[in-house]
Amino acid sequence: MRIVVLVSGTGSNLQAVLDAVAAGSLDVDIAAVGADRHGTGGVQRAADAGCETFVVNFRDYADRAEWNRALAARVASYQPDLVLSSGFMRIVDADFIDAFAGRYLNTHPALLPSFPGAHGVRDALAYGVKVTGCTVHWADAGVDTGPIIAQAAVEVRDGDTEESLHERIKVQERRLLLQTLAAFAADGVPSP
Ligand code: GAR
Repeated sequence: MRIVVLVSGTGSNLQAVLDAVAAGSLDVDIAAVGADRHGTGGVQRAADAGCETFVVNFRDYADRAEWNRALAARVASYQPDLVLSSGFMRIVDADFIDAFAGRYLNTHPALLPSFPGAHGVRDALAYGVKVTGCTVHWADAGVDTGPIIAQAAVEVRDGDTEESLHERIKVQERRLLLQTLAAFAADGVPSP
């Protein structure tokens, strides 16, 4: 299974995938890791692991549609079986979703449909929920919408900060992500 991973940030979840591939416990071929901006930790981690990397810098394009076309073309050039949004914090348009229909996977640090968006952990904490978690789902053109594949619950503890809660959520998020990728690698990417 060939995958392209898209990142915007530190790429700690990507690192779990890189480590599992290097350890031989996950049978996927990481064709490339790409970002929407320069200087991401995720691209650095991928380069350190010897992966091909690319940047389709959002700011280099006149508008979102042009950036979307460039991103879709670049991703398509790797002919991936699956595209993984691993902390990729930009919404792609319907053309991108159509190009990778049923092949665009996202993870989110909350129990969707609760707390979508860029601050899922902060928003859950601010609301005062006692249980939150993470979601692996097929992405569509919405913000953290699309059919749910797997979820795990994480208890909120007294005194949790956004950072401490996010770290515990990420432990579960990585477990679910690796489980999902392993299942797809073994059985093929299912229709959403
Ligand atoms: C992850 O928790 C991921 O679910 C979240 O960003 C984090 C990336 O961490 N994505 C979203 O919030 C998408 N709405 P990482 O860069 O350390 O892997």
